[in-house]
Amino acid sequence: MKKILSICIFMFACHEDHTSPSNMTISGSTVGSTAGSTAGSTAGSIAGSIAGSIAGSTASSTADFCAVLNEVLIPKCVVCHQTGATFPDLSAEHASEILTLQSLAHPDRALITPNQPSASLLYRKMAGMQAADEGGLMPPGRMPLVQELSIVEAWINQGASSVCNGEINQNTKHHPEGFSDPNVHGLELKQGLQNCRDCHGNTLEGGVGPSCDSCHQPDWRTNCTYCHGDTVLSDMRFMPHAQHLTNPLHGNWDCDQCHIKPTDVLSEKHVFDDSPAKAEVDFSQGLSATGVYDGNGGCSNLYCHGSGKVTGSYRQDDVKPDCTGCHSSSNLQGRHRKHLREGVSCGECHSSVASGSNTVINGDLHVNGQIDVLFQNSNMNRASNRCTGSCHGEYHGGETW
Ligand code: HEC
Ligand code: HEC
Ligand code: HEC
Ligand code: HEC
Ligand code: HEC
Ligand code: HEC
Ligand code: HEC
Repeated sequence: MKKILSICIFMFACHEDHTSPSNMTISGSTVGSTAGSTAGSTAGSIAGSIAGSIAGSTASSTADFCAVLNEVLIPKCVVCHQTGATFPDLSAEHASEILTLQSLAHPDRALITPNQPSASLLYRKMAGMQAADEGGLMPPGRMPLVQELSIVEAWINQGASSVCNGEINQNTKHHPEGFSDPNVHGLELKQGLQNCRDCHGNTLEGGVGPSCDSCHQPDWRTNCTYCHGDTVLSDMRFMPHAQHLTNPLHGNWDCDQCHIKPTDVLSEKHVFDDSPAKAEVDFSQGLSATGVYDGNGGCSNLYCHGSGKVTGSYRQDDVKPDCTGCHSSSNLQGRHRKHLREGVSCGECHSSVASGSNTVINGDLHVNGQIDVLFQNSNMNRASNRCTGSCHGEYHGGETW
């Protein structure tokens, strides 16, 4: 990754009154497809059990239509389900119609069946209990909204009245106050709490919510330091990131030694994947292509922590390996042991890489996937694995290694 200085020094003046959500329509097909793929597969199973446990505990609580409007439909649904946008219209003026509406996709199924939550499509989709042909979880996401679900359930159980005599919440903004603060919405993206693409468009160029580009610096999507910062990640799950990226023992490595390296925020398996806020370790593009990560800072079957021929294992909290940590005389092959016993140093046979037996002089040639043999003594010669010439006081007449 390029080491670019953080360029968060200028902030674009962002108009707070950017495109109002009511001017925008949302395409059922874009949202539907993200929602279906994220929610349909994961949420369904978790949701069933959550819904089950809520059902018992809230059966006796009360919830009138005001609570359903003010705490569920207006803050959580209207952003997409408004007049002229995604069916059904759940805005305050029209929400009472859900009692008489059938599903658009399945005209034989009621949105609400009084006293029967599980016979109500609206409830099923909020609980993640929808049938395979009934689309995704509502609102689109990974987990059902537990609190809101219990309000809807209590309301249906009590007969689903459509009368609200109390005050109706007029604030239909989706995000809480202060969400435009980078520390708030940036963190929410990093934690993967909601899928921004559900509302800000598949390409983040705008949906019912504004385009992310409307406020950000122009290169934010491809500028890796925009989210990852300058100094790579020293305080997270993998402490030795920095040591792996620059180290005098080897050339500078890039992220692709251990991850599929993305090129953009939207790259596949990067930010918006099935495991939000979790980095995938993937060695396939690097020197340790057959390495295995244990999910908790431990790696095995690594070329890089091996001897060049024998693979090795390592944990991030092990002590830093010295030369013999990777090159014990037992894992070096051929005639190494014999020569090392005689006191011949690594540098005498690997002079482009090492000097003596404990200094690497050219990191670019070390742990680079290539075994470099270059005799210090220029009369020595190795061909077809046979060595000829004089070294360490001994003549070699074409001996095999
Ligand atoms: C991010 C936008 C979005 C939000 C927020 C959202 N929905 Fe939806 N909703 C959709 C889309 C898109 C569809 C159509 C695809 C599907 O059913 O999965 C849909 C479909 C539905 C349907 C089925 C309609 C039919 O005719 O079959 C119901 C019921 C529903 N939503 C209820 C809700 C409720 C209740 C909430 C709030 C708790 C909510 N939705 C929040 C986008 C959204
Ligand atoms: C359910 C729909 C929905 C989802 C999911 C969503 N947004 Fe939004 N977002 C909106 C809407 C609608 C607006 C317009 C203002 C409002 O309603 O709060 C908006 C506005 C914003 C704003 C401007 C805030 C302001 O107060 O003007 C930011 C920043 C933002 N969203 C970031 C994000 C990020 C980051 C994510 C993902 C972590 C995300 N949003 C997910 C619907 C959504
Ligand atoms: C109302 C304006 C506004 C909108 C809309 C907006 N952002 Fe931001 N965001 C900012 C500002 C200001 C910064 C600070 C950096 C800059 O100026 O580019 C920022 C920074 C960020 C950061 C970096 C946070 C950090 O410092 O680590 C992330 C991540 C982010 N935004 C995600 C998003 C996403 C995703 C969207 C669209 C869903 C979005 N933002 C929409 C104003 C906005
Ligand atoms: C030597 C292997 C290695 C290299 C090189 C590497 N990473 Fe990682 N990275 C890991 C491991 C291991 C984890 C921990 C994954 C886990 O346990 O969830 C990780 C985790 C992460 C995380 C999640 C936060 C954290 O610290 O746990 C991010 C983000 C990340 N890496 C980004 C990068 C970027 C960007 C680069 C290149 C500049 C990079 N990594 C280079 C091995 C590496
Ligand atoms: C808008 C914020 C953002 C930007 C810009 C960004 N990343 Fe990331 N990146 C993340 C988040 C969040 C994760 C955590 C992983 C997840 O959610 O799957 C991550 C994870 C990673 C990982 C760990 C492997 C993985 O995909 O899970 C690597 C490597 C990485 N990013 C490299 C880059 C590179 C290279 C760039 C520049 C081309 C870049 N990132 C730009 C937010 C960003
Ligand atoms: C007398 C010469 C000689 C000395 C001394 C020597 N090597 Fe080697 N080494 C070789 C030769 C020749 C090969 C090439 C084997 C091949 O091509 O398969 C080799 C291969 C290697 C390999 C690849 C793995 C293997 O076991 O074949 C490593 C790692 C290595 N040497 C490290 C060292 C280290 C570390 C030292 C010092 C402790 C050292 N060598 C000392 C001659 C030597
Ligand atoms: C983390 C494991 C590791 C450590 C620590 C390590 N090496 Fe290596 N070394 C390797 C691997 C793997 C090779 C295989 C050849 C390659 O990929 O360059 C190698 C190869 C060598 C070679 C053979 C020449 C070549 O091809 O690079 C020499 C000599 C060598 N190492 C010396 C040293 C010395 C001296 C030290 C301590 C300063 C050291 N190594 C520390 C992993 C290590």
